[in-house]
Order: sequence, then C-alpha cells, then structure tokens
Amino acid sequence: MTPTATAARRTLFTPPLPEPRFPYNPGSMLSVLDLSVQGVSRLLARAAELERMDPLVRDRILLKRRLALLFYESSTRTRTSFELAAKALGADTTLVSNLSSSIEKGESLKDTGLTLRALGAEAIILRHNSSGAAWLLEASTRLPVINAGDGMHEHPTQALLDLRTLLAHLRPGVEGVDEKTLSGVTVAIVGDILHSRVARSNMLLLPRLGARVLLCGPVQLLPDLAAHAAAGVAIERNFDAALGQSQAVMMLRIQAERLSGLQLDLDEYKASYQLTGQRLAAHAPAALVMHPGPIIRGMEITAGVADGVQSAILEQVTNGVAIRMAVIERALKHENGGRP
Ligand code: CP
Repeated sequence: MTPTATAARRTLFTPPLPEPRFPYNPGSMLSVLDLSVQGVSRLLARAAELERMDPLVRDRILLKRRLALLFYESSTRTRTSFELAAKALGADTTLVSNLSSSIEKGESLKDTGLTLRALGAEAIILRHNSSGAAWLLEASTRLPVINAGDGMHEHPTQALLDLRTLLAHLRPGVEGVDEKTLSGVTVAIVGDILHSRVARSNMLLLPRLGARVLLCGPVQLLPDLAAHAAAGVAIERNFDAALGQSQAVMMLRIQAERLSGLQLDLDEYKASYQLTGQRLAAHAPAALVMHPGPIIRGMEITAGVADGVQSAILEQVTNGVAIRMAVIERALKHENGGRP
C-alpha cells in the first residue's frame, strides 16, 4: 500500500475526535478526576512550599488578582479557608451568597456568573446544592471554576486536604505522591455515603494512589452499587470489621438536608455506626480519626473521640488553607498561560 493510501486508510479508521470535554479552562478544578496523579503530587508539593514561604513574599504571588466566592449553601471551613488562602497570596476576594444577593430575586447561576465575570472576577469558587452546577458555571463563563462542593457529587479540595492529612500521619515527610504511595493503607469511610460529595471525591482519589477504600453504612445510606464506584473500593457493612482493617477512618454526618423523606431509626444507626471511644479502642486503637465537618457530636461520633488523641479533625481544617492556596494559584496561573 502506498503511503498516501495508508494515510487515507488511517483517516478512514481513525475514530472521530472526542467531544470537547470539561473542564474547558485548564485552571478549573471540577472533580478530582481533572488531576493526574502527577498533578496531585505537584499540588501537594506546592502547598507545602507556599505554607513555608515568607508571608510578605507569598502575598505578592497573586497581588490584586480578583476571585469571587459564590456560595449557594452554607459553609464554615471551605469558605473561610478559600478566602484566607486567596488573601495569603495577595488576591482580592468578594463573597456572593444566595442569601444576600440577586440570587434571592431569581437570578440564574449563568447570569450570576456572567455578572461576576463582567465585574472583573478572574476565577470563581462555587458551592452549590445541585450536582453538576460547577460544570454549568464553567461552560457559561469559561472562567476557571473551583468546585467547593456541588450537591451530592464532588468536593475535590476536601479530598486533597484529606490526602495531605493522611500523608502527614501515615507517610510522614512525604510531600509528593505516586500510584503506590498509599499501598497497604485502608481508609474506612463511614456513614451517609449516598449524600456525601466528600466520600465521592475521596473514593475517586485515594485508590489512584494505591489505597483501599472501605465504605461502611446502612443500605439506605450506602447502596450496594457504590462498591462499583472505582477500582479499590469495597463495602463492609459491619463497622467493627471495617475498623479492624483500617489505618484511618473518615466519619460522615447524616445529611438531614438531603434525606428527602428517607426515614432512619437514629438509635439503631448510632448503635451500629457511631464512633465511640469503646469501639475505637477495641477495633482500631491506632487508627487516624477524620471528619470533614460539620460534626454532629453524639450522632456519628462521640465528643470524646472527636477531641481525642487519635483525632486529626482540626488538622484537616488547617490543611485546607495550604491546599487551597495551591489550587487557587493553579487556577489563575493557568489563565495566564503559566505553570501547568
Ligand atoms: N468540609 C466542609 O465542606 O465544611 P463546610 O461545609 O463548613 O465548608
């Protein structure tokens, strides 16, 4: 066959180009799947660098760049840490909340995003109660959009700060990751998996670094199908058995605001799935205890465990600032055609 015929044949059998995929903007972070393992590693290393940097040098990095925080749902940790992270890099921030803006008058997400862009926002950090809202905002504005939690879907920066916390305890001194960094580590995620964007982002991230994720909860909050969410994810319904296999346990709040009429016997739930001091001592006396917050003391976790020596809950919160500095820098540097 002549070279021309070969080329023609190749053209004929080449599959059509894939549809343009999200994210449109390479600075966006809509899902943990937007990051390669190397990308995760770069972010972790950069978070450590930024954290160590002289604050007077650090606050020149994004001097006077403009970030909008668009929050349709309440938040303490995510909103505050994004704002502190942006300010630590010298950026200007503005907060738009559904409770004190024209969103209350019925303005759409698209029009709100376009308005923020017209006002000079260079990136938008979005929390929204609808899964997929971050994709819609990005498609509408083509700005870098950072997903700060969309409905029951994903919360990628939470998974990254959880990873940083896990590494600090289970792989001390390690600032980068590869596909084997968490080999031999089992992380139990316990409670309301069905409604948890934190669970989803963690189960899509941690197995890519070698960890095994064990999901644990009652069938109403953890459908059997969840075992197929990703390679490296399995279900163990017995909490004590899950604890016995795990080096870290992430407890989740029951998301009452998303239950949609689902009835749960809370006494039964607590008997089976509450993390108590007794349960921890018996089955996982060395495991790291994590919780993305907000915590409901006395429901999914006792006060004694939340405040106990195995708890890394406040470290998770602290790690949010360093991770979000790196994520914000990535968003705005990309827009500049800078560092990938
Ligand atoms: N973990 C988390 O997203 O907490 P907030 O809802 O307080 O931001």
